[in-house]
Amino acid sequence: MNTPLMNTYKQFAEQTLEQARCLPFAVYHDPDVYEAEVSRIFHNDWIFFCPEELLADAGQYFAMEIAGEPVVVIRGRDGELRALSNSCRHRGTPLLDNGSGSISKNIVCPYHAWNFDDKGEFKGAPMTGEIRVEADKHCLPQYGLATWNGLIFVNLSETPQPFSEKIAGIDDYLKYFELSRFKHSYQLPEEHWQANWKLAVENGIESYHLFKVHKETLETVTPSKKAYYVAGSPEWTLTGGEMKDTRNTLSKWFSGSHPEVYSQYLLLFLPPSFVAVIDYEGLNWIHVLPDGAEGCRVTPGGLLEYQVKDFSTEEFQFTAAFLKEDQDICERVQRGMHARQGHGGKLISMECILVDFRQYLASRLFNLSFESFHETEKAGMFYK
Ligand code: FES
Repeated sequence: MNTPLMNTYKQFAEQTLEQARCLPFAVYHDPDVYEAEVSRIFHNDWIFFCPEELLADAGQYFAMEIAGEPVVVIRGRDGELRALSNSCRHRGTPLLDNGSGSISKNIVCPYHAWNFDDKGEFKGAPMTGEIRVEADKHCLPQYGLATWNGLIFVNLSETPQPFSEKIAGIDDYLKYFELSRFKHSYQLPEEHWQANWKLAVENGIESYHLFKVHKETLETVTPSKKAYYVAGSPEWTLTGGEMKDTRNTLSKWFSGSHPEVYSQYLLLFLPPSFVAVIDYEGLNWIHVLPDGAEGCRVTPGGLLEYQVKDFSTEEFQFTAAFLKEDQDICERVQRGMHARQGHGGKLISMECILVDFRQYLASRLFNLSFESFHETEKAGMFYK
């Protein structure tokens, strides 16, 4: 697509921090831009799917749509995880309901009961009479799947880039946190925000707004001024920050005899849509999926050392409070994106992670490449 708006989008997306301004407002609501992002990004890159813990046993599945594409990940009786199309090969009915579940044998379509095994192979159709349905032409398409530290990622591309290439180098910064300790997952109900997916992602990754939007919540724990850039590129970014010890009792306890890193947090951004905060107590994420040019679905979740039994605790009320603040500001900004003087202002250095994100966008939408891995002196604190 070579429209004036896409050309402007390209020019802005490849800007360096010194040049960078807010993206043209129209890219946050234009339907053609949205279609291009869905096909070149969400249907062509590694997208977070669910925690692996949900699929521990044979027959367990998790189903959801990735920007309109119905997908199910299922643990087969052979122990393998597979990502399959969740659309019936007869007339397209979604096969399994979205969310978690379990099948005892085959996947049976709720419309005319065509059935498929846990590898997606076509196993039969009732009452076909003289008509022969060729099994090899009616299997469920299979997609790329990768796991990383208990998290499942899916790639709908026919030729996916290896996941190991996308995340190359990240683990070097995470060793102190020993992510393998976090075996228990939780996911909170999906929220629908009336904001373009990029606004929700940008809001999730930059810390500049904390002092204003989250004055009584996040700013009391992870202040804007204590945030810093660690390392990154268009493929992934780590930022970090110092945690005030008002909530994190562990960080108090650790101070002194334990490494300084345990009083810090890392914010991991795996574009396009996975944003996670990692500290000594766990890895907590928000996952953002597009839902039309002016909407998105946001799902909070996490991996912890312990199983969460009660979501009414102070900790989860705190999460709900700051997410509501994020939703309100993103929806407000979305309304602002329709201003006719549709160009924004200069990005400041605290927003440098947004430059990584827009270079990611430019790499996927416009096939641009960037030699831009960079690291700050803060990175040394996280090496082990
Ligand atoms: Fe699935 Fe007909 S649509 S069996």
